[in-house]
Amino acid sequence: MVPEHTLPGSELAAKCAALARAEAEPIYYERHILPVVAYSIELAREVGADRKVVEVAAWLHDIARFRLKQLHRGTHELKGAEEARKVLKQLGADAEFIDRVARCIQCHVDGRQASTLEEKVLVSADGLAHIEHVEWLFFVALRDQYPGDLKNAERWTRQKIDFAWKHKIVLRQAKEKARQKYAAAIKILTSSH
Ligand SMILES: [Fe+2]
Ligand SMILES: [Fe+2]
Repeated sequence: MVPEHTLPGSELAAKCAALARAEAEPIYYERHILPVVAYSIELAREVGADRKVVEVAAWLHDIARFRLKQLHRGTHELKGAEEARKVLKQLGADAEFIDRVARCIQCHVDGRQASTLEEKVLVSADGLAHIEHVEWLFFVALRDQYPGDLKNAERWTRQKIDFAWKHKIVLRQAKEKARQKYAAAIKILTSSH
């Protein structure tokens, strides 16, 4: 069930939400897309960022992953920004809004590239969702990256959440929300070593 705070705040956001729901793998939608949207809205409220921009950017931020099957850092965010531009143009969004959303998507992999408040909100929300749903990352690790290889799956997952903690969660408010969850996840992932 979609938490109330992730209900789309505008008609445009509702259309982007419907697109993500229709195209993303259901478990990925539930364990990653929805949490990113929820954290984006929450953080936008806390830091005074533009909710409309971050909400639309959050629904579409991984469009390269679920529509174009582009999974790699470097291409994933650039192709995603490009594809989001096309989608938003078709939906009739104005050019300035499209630019702001596309820039958020382009910077969502590494917080060191984020400059506006909205860009920092999205990359922080993405990092928070990784840490909160470490079970999703571990599932991906065992299913797609290292099938049947527990130790390497753990190592890969740990690298992902370390990166999220160090380089994605750039907002202080987000760091506070992530601190305990990060410590717990690290404890689980290192307990067998
Ligand atoms: Fe992504
Ligand atoms: Fe993501």
